[in-house]
Amino acid sequence: NFTVKELLEKGKELNLQEVTVQGWVRSFRSNRFIAINDGSTIKNIQIVVDFEKLDAKILKKISTAASLKVKGEVVESQGAGQEIEIIAKEIEILGEANPDELQSTILQPKQHSLEKLREQAHLRFRTNTFSAIMRVRNSLMFGIHKYFNENGFVYINTPIITGSDAEGAGEMFSVTNFDLEKELPRTEEGKVDFSQDFFGKQTNLTVSGQLEGEVAAMGLGKIYTFGPTFRAENSNTARHLAEFWMIEPEMAFYNLDMNMDLAEDMLKYVIRYALDNCADDMQFLAERFDKEQTQKPQNERSELSLMERLDYVLNNKFVRLSYTEAIEILQKSKQNQKKKFQYPIEGWGTDLQSEHERYLVEKHFKTPVILFDYPAEIKAFYMRMNEDGKTVRAMDILFPGIGEIIGGSQREERLDVLDEKIEKFGIEKEELWWYRDTRKFGTVPHSGFGLGLERLVLFVTGMGNIRDVIPFPRTPKNAEF
Ligand code: 4AD
Ligand code: MG
Repeated sequence: NFTVKELLEKGKELNLQEVTVQGWVRSFRSNRFIAINDGSTIKNIQIVVDFEKLDAKILKKISTAASLKVKGEVVESQGAGQEIEIIAKEIEILGEANPDELQSTILQPKQHSLEKLREQAHLRFRTNTFSAIMRVRNSLMFGIHKYFNENGFVYINTPIITGSDAEGAGEMFSVTNFDLEKELPRTEEGKVDFSQDFFGKQTNLTVSGQLEGEVAAMGLGKIYTFGPTFRAENSNTARHLAEFWMIEPEMAFYNLDMNMDLAEDMLKYVIRYALDNCADDMQFLAERFDKEQTQKPQNERSELSLMERLDYVLNNKFVRLSYTEAIEILQKSKQNQKKKFQYPIEGWGTDLQSEHERYLVEKHFKTPVILFDYPAEIKAFYMRMNEDGKTVRAMDILFPGIGEIIGGSQREERLDVLDEKIEKFGIEKEELWWYRDTRKFGTVPHSGFGLGLERLVLFVTGMGNIRDVIPFPRTPKNAEF
């Protein structure tokens, strides 16, 4: 028994041997050639049907998407593009696929719109594009674990259900076990009485594991989390999901510069890891990307091919630029002066929109950019205040075609300054007692960041929509299965 990948890797070594392979039919041509794929690789193995040895009744049942078990002999292939093929001796149909029903779905090559595919739950995993993306995604995740483990980090799990709003942005999905068929218990003021809920207080799905990650780093030194996070922001963009996977390292004794060095090194490592381990899938995705560019209007095309873009990121040091310098560049830009930005830059203090981030990365520097020292008002409460009293030690990493891929900061380790911020942001101090405790008992300078896995997969695969790089996207429109 071999997977298609194993068969193709061994190739001629298996010549004249009898093998068994199982998979799904990708195509069946001339009543003689069956292309089979089992998800182990983007490539198919060709099965050649031996008429004399096979029952004609079985042949009738072989159609695209059906699943087969094939026993046969490996021979050198006569056709171009493949080293070996299998002369079938026995074919067992594991599951038929009704061709008429299939017609109306996705496997007909011409109607493969990615949007349509999203409605086809399981058939989506059978397509070349999506299965290649899933293998690259897997490789990136594995590379991330490898990187952190080889660098002395402890992987910890932070809770999914939590009472805290780490980002203070109020974009949470609440969690409750109240019986919604019944009237909700109310307090005297008429508010929902969460003391009667399972958790005895209002809880929500986590927006970030950072605060818990900080607590762990204050004992374990270097930790990382890697789990699902949830944002109830109703933004229907190609870069936002309601449920996405985030990697959040947190390091004791790290300042912002060390944080930037780590983020840059990690990104380069994992991208290289995926390129090395998914060469066939990446070649397929690169061809797909480059073909797609030729179909776009000239001004929207990527100047670089996918592989050039990845090489560029791997081989160049990311530009490091303060928020203040970025605002100066943006204000002076022709784009701003000709009022071509949808949100013109008003001056220091305005939050950057993705159009500004992309201008800096794609037009001005043409390389990834790390922006740091943002105005305190537009960033979260936990970031360390600078000496100027106006900016915080924040960093965002911006990537071509993506915008923000990482957000992080050096954390405010001084309890008095932190408390001032908590008050200013209108956060209940008592709620954060467990977080504030880390600043009371041996506080240390520390830093961390969050990498959005799907944004990284988007970048590496060259895909345009974040819904196409996660197995089951959760967005305001996709939550059926
Ligand atoms: O910038 P964010 O909101 O930062 C945090 O959550 C911090 N607690 C991270 C930390 O310092 N430990 O999110 C971090 C990253 C973003 O840069 C982006 O890549 C991704 O998470 N992200 C999203 N990805 C998909 N859909 C969304 N709605 C996302 N929101 C953030
Ligand atoms: Mg951010």
